[in-house]
Amino acid sequence: MSVIAFENVTVNYDDRLVLSDISTELTESRIGIIGANGGGKSTLIRLINGLSEASTGTVTVDGIDVAKKGKEIRRKVGFVFSDADNQIVMPTVAEDLAFSLRRLKLPKSDRQKRVKDILEQFGLASHHDHSPHLLSGGQKQLLALASVMMVEPDIIIADEPTTLLDMRNRLEIKKTFVRLPQQLIVVTHDLDFIRDFDRVLLIHDHRIYADGKPEDVIASYETLMQEMTA
Ligand SMILES: Nc1ncnc2c1ncn2[C@@H]1O[C@H](COP(=O)(O)OP(=O)(O)OP(=O)(O)O)[C@@H](O)[C@H]1O
Ligand SMILES: [Mg+2]
Repeated sequence: MSVIAFENVTVNYDDRLVLSDISTELTESRIGIIGANGGGKSTLIRLINGLSEASTGTVTVDGIDVAKKGKEIRRKVGFVFSDADNQIVMPTVAEDLAFSLRRLKLPKSDRQKRVKDILEQFGLASHHDHSPHLLSGGQKQLLALASVMMVEPDIIIADEPTTLLDMRNRLEIKKTFVRLPQQLIVVTHDLDFIRDFDRVLLIHDHRIYADGKPEDVIASYETLMQEMTA
């Protein structure tokens, strides 16, 4: 697994503090991030591949400073956005997947093989000539994940990958995630999704409010939310 290190990271937007002096190392294979709306979870994970910028402090992945080596980092760290629709760029599922490979100088036959393999792996083979826009919500989420997998990143970050999905598609995505060999960091409000993870962080009050085994951190979150709504 890679070592993702946050060192005294603070993020402000204008005069609004979002994250305050975060220091931690993420080295586990399965890491969940939970917390209330607007707490800074997306900001935190976007820092890992340079989509957000730290106001102060540094974020490194295996010693590489993400703010300085954006291109290198984005090859190492795949990011799956919660809005799968916005990640669709090409008219067919197969072309959409192939598009992810545009920056790699691969022979056409290799490219086609990789598209075929991924389509099969994600159960989308029968949709290869279909418009991505016509896929179901869950299939779109799977396609978004598959596109990220195409470039074989070491780390996969997913921001609410099961939002809007029904139970079947949620389970589908979860099953797919369980099988991934990559290090995985998932932000979610779907607490069942992360119950078997190695580690969960609760983001609250601009910092890592709780950090540890899923059951303990989920319990802290429940207590905290009950206190806040009492
Ligand atoms: N580019 C930006 N400019 C200004 N403010 C921003 C920007 N991005 C995020 N924020 C603010 O930072 C705070 C944290 O946002 P963030 O999206 O990280 O929260 P979150 O924990 O992911 O919330 P949710 O669970 O609703 O997705 C919010 O108050 C948001 O308005
Ligand atoms: Mg968010």
